[in-house]
Amino acid sequence: MPEQSSSTNASIGSLSADSRAPVGIFDSGLGGLSVLRAVRAQLPDEALLYVADSLYAPYGERDDDFIADRTLAIGEWLVKQGAKALVVACNTATAQSIALVREKLSIPLVGVEPGIKPAALQSKTRVAGVLATQVTLRSARFQALLERYAADCRFLCQPGHGLVQAVERCDVGSAGLRALLRGYLQPMLDAGADTLVLGCTHYPFFDATIRDIVGDRLALIDTSVAIARQLERVLEQHGVRAAPQTADAALPRFYSTGDGTHLRQLVATLLEIDAQVERVLIPSRRTAPSSQPA
Ligand code: DGL
Repeated sequence: MPEQSSSTNASIGSLSADSRAPVGIFDSGLGGLSVLRAVRAQLPDEALLYVADSLYAPYGERDDDFIADRTLAIGEWLVKQGAKALVVACNTATAQSIALVREKLSIPLVGVEPGIKPAALQSKTRVAGVLATQVTLRSARFQALLERYAADCRFLCQPGHGLVQAVERCDVGSAGLRALLRGYLQPMLDAGADTLVLGCTHYPFFDATIRDIVGDRLALIDTSVAIARQLERVLEQHGVRAAPQTADAALPRFYSTGDGTHLRQLVATLLEIDAQVERVLIPSRRTAPSSQPA
């Protein structure tokens, strides 16, 4: 679900941003590609810049200050590259730092949150599972989402330890991964769940594997299409939506703080684009040279 608070601290109508400027999309790693795919389908005329902070993924095992530090640094970097809007395509970063980033950046922002509202609306058994990172699940924002939308639906919240790492190494269906997923999903089935919220943008890559394990017993809630629509609304509100192109829109540009090999591989499989991935150094307070991994 797109994060619901006001979309920007910049005043509507006063922006000078060029509608031809790109939209920045960022995730701790490869998961945000599931959002980028939906954005391309919804807004084919928009130029896109994608940053994977793979050197520091998974965020779900970092402390709150680290996540806020990286989210802000990457947001600022994307603004410097000329981004007219930012999609924080990471539930964990949204949960931890969207308020701070919104305060500091001058461009419109769209964040993502687990789809509690659609799950509560559609569950017939009134039991639903949520798979998300530990950081997302323990955040005040997530607790507030549950309070606001869960109504009489019981949510079984399961941290997806190990799942982000699997996507980061392009494993979406190995025997080990299936066993891990089965361990998370079976208790939900046993408790009568009929709906599963994919509360991390990495998890839609497990779609086929989850289907194999649970068949049609769980309806999967992935909010990437809703996020793309929210981005469309935000760009329109700010008068910065790209004009329709006569020629094919430029391909997205991909950046990684890691070596980019897996990003390139997943872009090829998922988007059928043979893209170059540029390795970038995006320094931040918590990753200053003395605290960089060797
Ligand atoms: N894609 C991120 C999310 O939606 C993964 C976070 C992580 O790196 O742990 O939460």
